Amino acid sequence: MDLKPLLRPDLDTLEEYVPVKPLDVLAAEIGLPVDRLVKLDANENLYGPHPEVLRAIEGAAFHIYPDPGQDGLREAIAGWLGVEPSMVVAGTGADDLIDVLIRLVMPRSVVIPTPAFGMYRFLAKISRAEPVEVPRRPNFDLDVVAIRHAVHAGAGIVFLTSPNNPTGNPVNRAELEALCALETIVVVDEAYVEFGGETVIPLIARYPNLVVLRTFSKWAGLAGLRVGYAIAHPELAGHMLSLKQPYNVNVAADAGARAAIAHFAEIKETIASIVAERDRMAALCEGLGWLKPLPSQANFVLFQVEGRAAKDVAAGLRKAGVLVRYYDRPDLANYVRISAGRPEDTDRLIEALRAL
Ligand SMILES: Cc1ncc(COP(=O)(O)O)c(C=O)c1O
Repeated sequence: MDLKPLLRPDLDTLEEYVPVKPLDVLAAEIGLPVDRLVKLDANENLYGPHPEVLRAIEGAAFHIYPDPGQDGLREAIAGWLGVEPSMVVAGTGADDLIDVLIRLVMPRSVVIPTPAFGMYRFLAKISRAEPVEVPRRPNFDLDVVAIRHAVHAGAGIVFLTSPNNPTGNPVNRAELEALCALETIVVVDEAYVEFGGETVIPLIARYPNLVVLRTFSKWAGLAGLRVGYAIAHPELAGHMLSLKQPYNVNVAADAGARAAIAHFAEIKETIASIVAERDRMAALCEGLGWLKPLPSQANFVLFQVEGRAAKDVAAGLRKAGVLVRYYDRPDLANYVRISAGRPEDTDRLIEALRAL
């Protein structure tokens, strides 16, 4: 039977999201044991979760469905951030909430200032929204005039990231407010805000069309557990809650996220270590003379590679078991993005870079 006529007609035009591979798959591909890999390609937290988070996960009631209303988790997040629980929606990672927002708005098009996190484009296309990519200016700030044009042309969501992945710079507050004044939903993805930059959550009181996304994947070291959340005006959050998959946050993720909040003061020390390591890593790489770091407020640094191909640098590091992300495309020609790890991860990175 020909399956093609039975499926959506635009399947051929959908682009696959290229995800990072898990450790065991990478280890088998490279031919090194897992413990020899230095994974600096996905902005994960190499310290892993706090021990109390692991204990909380162990105690979750796995035989019972999770709470579709997410009451306990939403209250914990709200109390921690000083917002109303009615403004909080949790998801299977921030990715889930990007999808919920697109399905809530069903826009003809969405605006994505590039370079950007790839999931906005991928999820827009799945929901048949045209991704309108608006290049950032040479210093990677937003091109507000071009974004405004795209909104006037009918874009229903503007996806901003602050600090941005992969460039590491935050969104400018005045520019954000100018965009919030437009007739569109404005998403500020703060996946990395715990590492630097300022949250824009207080602006939601003035702009009910503003949604802030956050995640436990980075600062709390829970990327594999899949839990994130949105903060929005209660009306918008209410619609997101009714549209999401009822059991989107599983019981382990719920328990893990709540324990991470309870132990935030201790986890903050790990966050501070990662920030310090980011700056040490950037300085050591710059000292090699051919990697030019961009200032970063996140847990990674974007480097312009001079005098050699970024692709070859990434391939050479990979052979040594050090994984980084490289970019070679018009808006990001010859760059590598390197996540900040522990001091021993930086040492392995620098050793491998010197040996290239
Ligand atoms: C900007 C940005 N938003 C969201 C995510 C994904 O977050 P989550 O793991 O909560 O789905 C990432 C992950 O790399 C990211 O870089």
